[in-house]
Amino acid sequence: MVASQPEHREPARHDPALGRVIIDEATLQSRIRELGRQITKDYEGRVPLLVGVLKGAFVFMSDLARAIELPVEFDFMAVASYGRATRTSGVVRIVKDLDLDLTDRSVLVVEDIVDSGLTLSYLRKNLLARNPVSLEVCALLVKEGTQRVESDLAYTGFRIPPDFVVGYGLDAAERYRNLPYICVYEGPGSG
Ligand code: IMP
Ligand code: MG
Repeated sequence: MVASQPEHREPARHDPALGRVIIDEATLQSRIRELGRQITKDYEGRVPLLVGVLKGAFVFMSDLARAIELPVEFDFMAVASYGRATRTSGVVRIVKDLDLDLTDRSVLVVEDIVDSGLTLSYLRKNLLARNPVSLEVCALLVKEGTQRVESDLAYTGFRIPPDFVVGYGLDAAERYRNLPYICVYEGPGSG
């Protein structure tokens, strides 16, 4: 197939569960390039180990890593929080642990979204106990006014209103992760 200009995309799919687009594809991509440049500068001379938090962070991590002009390594962990579909309970369980040893590594945790901050606070404690030389967090989205614990983020993509959002890795009952933009979810379970 011959490569061509990307097609113009509709702002949101014709799906009654999808509300307004909060961050469109071009805005996402340009902010991610900025984050990549900043990380490249900050980690010069080091080989950061990117730790992606599955599943939500996989799309962001893939684009972010390609915007970092350094040798990087990847690992992933999966966590689950008990509770209702669109709320975090604060009780976090590791479903898949890392493969790599963090001793003396410069670890950069890549998260999709910080809501209450409880997931991140748990992860930070857990990963710090493994003796990395540094541990920082890059979160694509941070919800305004919902943090119940201080979440000290080295890199933040966007601050957004406290609505439930989907797209670009984020799901509602496992759907919508492949939308190339972030939009408000107004479907079942959102109210
Ligand atoms: P926290 O522990 O309350 O900060 O929640 C963090 C996790 O909850 C994220 O990693 C997401 O998996 C999920 N989450 C929080 N808000 C949203 C949202 O608006 N859409 C999709 N997932 C969300
Ligand atoms: Mg989720």
